[in-house]
Amino acid sequence: MCRDVDSSTPQVIVELGAGAGPVTSMITHLMHPESTFLSVELDPELHAMALKRCPDVDIQLGSAVDLDQFLNDRGIRNVDCMISCLPVPSLPKAANKSIFDCWERRCKSGVFTQITQIPWYFRRMYARAFEDVEFDLVMMNFPPAGVYHCRNLRQGYTEQARLPGH
Ligand SMILES: C[S@@+](CC[C@H](N)C(=O)[O-])C[C@H]1O[C@@H](n2cnc3c(N)ncnc32)[C@H](O)[C@@H]1O
Repeated sequence: MCRDVDSSTPQVIVELGAGAGPVTSMITHLMHPESTFLSVELDPELHAMALKRCPDVDIQLGSAVDLDQFLNDRGIRNVDCMISCLPVPSLPKAANKSIFDCWERRCKSGVFTQITQIPWYFRRMYARAFEDVEFDLVMMNFPPAGVYHCRNLRQGYTEQARLPGH
């Protein structure tokens, strides 16, 4: 998940869906000390747990759907690294569209990094939305999980790509 977090250079890093903060914590350990890091979590209880675990991180309570607003509030234009732990297959289509569109406009690396707890199962779904989808199996997780590194959002992906939420 943190493959593109670079400890040698300051970056703007965004995490979506902090949960109780395991990935959040790893990002803080790996990132350059001058990096800007914004995390977003929807659930107030999990948000409180993540804040307790990572008190120095800017963790916004709210929906990733409002990411544009959260970035604007902080004067952030571009993002170097976007890491999503969101339950993409379960989100409404409009929510995914808003998140992917924000990522496409803002994320300079061109990589949408997405966690999965069910390896390969949703690969075709991501491949319908993105032209290039790379998958890393993570055997160290129990049960084995994985990461999708997605690039190049397809034109008209919401109509043609049968995004989740239909
Ligand atoms: C699979 S959990 C991942 C939690 C943690 N990052 C981890 O790896 O254990 C997904 C998280 O996304 C959060 N979430 C779901 N919808 C969201 C949304 N629209 N905006 C922000 N967070 C959301 C959930 O509350 C949950 O904490």
